[in-house]
Amino acid sequence: MSNIESILTENRVFEVSDEIKKTFSVSEEKLAEMRAKAAEDHVGFWSDLAREKLSWSKPFTVGLDDSKAPHYKWFTDGELNVSYNCIDRHLQDKSDKTAIIFEGDRGDIERYTYKELHDQVCRFANTLTAQGVEKGDRVIIYMPMIPQAVIAMQACARIGAIHSVVFGGFSAEALRDRIVDAGAKMVITTNGSRRGGKTIPLKHAVDTALEKGCEQVKKVIVYRRTDDEVEMQEGRDIDWLEAEAGMSNYHDPVAVDSEHPLFLLYTSGSTGKPKGVQHSSGGYLLNAHVTNEWMFDLNDNDVFWCTADVGWITGHSYVAYGPLSVGATMVMFEGVPTYPDAGRFWQVCQDHGVTVFYTAPTAIRALMKFGADLPKQYDLEKLRLLGTVGEPINPEAWMWYHDVIGQGRCPIIDTWWQTETGAHMIAPFPVTPLKPGSCTQPLPGIDAVILDEEGNELIGNEGGLLAIKQPWPSMIRNVWGDEERYRNTYFPLEGKPYYVVGDSAHRDADGYFWILGRVDDVLNVSGHRLGTMEIESALVSHAKVAEAAVVGRPHDVKGEAVAAFVVLNVDLPEGDERDALVQELRNWVSQEIGPIAKPDDIRFGTNLPKTRSGKIMRRLLRAIAKGEEITQDTSTLEDPTILDQFQKK
Ligand code: WTA
Repeated sequence: MSNIESILTENRVFEVSDEIKKTFSVSEEKLAEMRAKAAEDHVGFWSDLAREKLSWSKPFTVGLDDSKAPHYKWFTDGELNVSYNCIDRHLQDKSDKTAIIFEGDRGDIERYTYKELHDQVCRFANTLTAQGVEKGDRVIIYMPMIPQAVIAMQACARIGAIHSVVFGGFSAEALRDRIVDAGAKMVITTNGSRRGGKTIPLKHAVDTALEKGCEQVKKVIVYRRTDDEVEMQEGRDIDWLEAEAGMSNYHDPVAVDSEHPLFLLYTSGSTGKPKGVQHSSGGYLLNAHVTNEWMFDLNDNDVFWCTADVGWITGHSYVAYGPLSVGATMVMFEGVPTYPDAGRFWQVCQDHGVTVFYTAPTAIRALMKFGADLPKQYDLEKLRLLGTVGEPINPEAWMWYHDVIGQGRCPIIDTWWQTETGAHMIAPFPVTPLKPGSCTQPLPGIDAVILDEEGNELIGNEGGLLAIKQPWPSMIRNVWGDEERYRNTYFPLEGKPYYVVGDSAHRDADGYFWILGRVDDVLNVSGHRLGTMEIESALVSHAKVAEAAVVGRPHDVKGEAVAAFVVLNVDLPEGDERDALVQELRNWVSQEIGPIAKPDDIRFGTNLPKTRSGKIMRRLLRAIAKGEEITQDTSTLEDPTILDQFQKK
């Protein structure tokens, strides 16, 4: 049975005992009150929270400004500093509380109290200023999962610089595209990173990226994470510690407008290059803050561990900003789940007393394969909430997570959201009754609806396009430098206010949402978003490739795997040479984008299956990739024999 079918026939309901329910800060009554208030006064609901939860250096008087819709502004005339909210305001009563527990790939451990984090962030903020970074400048952060990545992000926020974190697994080419699009002035990186017992170079990719077209980058700050020597370019590259020497640990945070961009984060869409999703300061922080309280119930005694990399939105809202804003203790982990063995996640949970754990279904499915005995060797008694994000979780993985890791006592918080939404949108509170595979209900103040193809709201329990009807504080503000793309992509329904998500969903009779997956040409591989177009253009840029089409096919661990159909402009080699070409093309994609985009299958044909008007028939390619018999109508195909070529592996 496919995941989607098994999700849709799932009817079990799970609730924790009343005794456990009582331990959660938001009770069912409180939740009902919040929902009622939000329904009655949408803007008032969010504005009250913004006053209660955030510290403003200048209070706002305007909740929502929708005069330039669909460009919405929240808390417009207010001023604040995000880093002040994440660190300084905790110094009075939590200065000795641990903010970050870091575990390195090799088991090395570092701890930072809020006071220590404050000192580090201030010193680095002063360093950035001394190196010429000013409010509004863009700074690229290309670093592994080490505390310095969070320190760099927080330091940018402190001076009002706009960071754009590029996932360390992206290639030099992908890095260059982002540097250029953002118009960045500085890159912050490390000499290398440590993962799975190996050291991986990073600075080298920065050097390659900067070779051409990035003249505006004046400085590169390099933190030494490994023992590897790297070349430092005179006048451009500076060692982090040397640059920081003599810098004061005092820094007055720069108050910015609520709407001042906090960061850009590049993500894949269905067309063109990755887009720079632009987030605000006040609105973004508000949703990041409240969802850490609501979904994860973070309290004084919690140790929160979100396994996401800071290169993704989850690592922004649930590592770098949200947990700090609520004053929590969090774990940061540099390594991989399977090194030195597949018990690593459970060892980290045990050793640091993790109480709330947040990861992706792909990780759960990968670890499930190693059986239940491995997690049983670790003490996971402290866990009280388990979260998932990134893709629909199949009921089998949900049950394993619930029974084996959570020992039946921990609610599974399945959080649906996107880079563009900034924070959780549809997700249970810990007290919500759960159905495996459903992200349950929209949060209070999130107006999720389901539309038909024409943009009419469906009110029954039908499936359709997921959309958000009213603006919310942490929504995307713009596609960096491309206002038109912002409107066309997210508000495609002329004259209607819907933010169209790009996922299809189904709502059941209890009002629970079931996300079915993307409706556009975006793949979800191990919870990572990849545009088919991006992979196609990478393939086509190879000298031997004339044309390429990329589709997803179901994969039991990754969720989706990348399948590529390629037309060569040279003769198709045979035997070993053909295998070598497949390898060459896979490596090419890895070099152009990053290893996560490597096609799992590559098939060759003399043309792509096209209609007489030249449109590629992707549904046929999807069927071939899945190994399905072609039962669809192929009469509109220009040349039906193409299908036979592609069906041969
Ligand atoms: C998918 C990641 C089902 C969805 C935070 C969305 C999910 C895309 C879930 C965004 C979930 C994310 N259940 N699907 N709980 N969470 N998705 O921007 O297709 O990397 O549109 O943000 O991931 O991916 P992004």
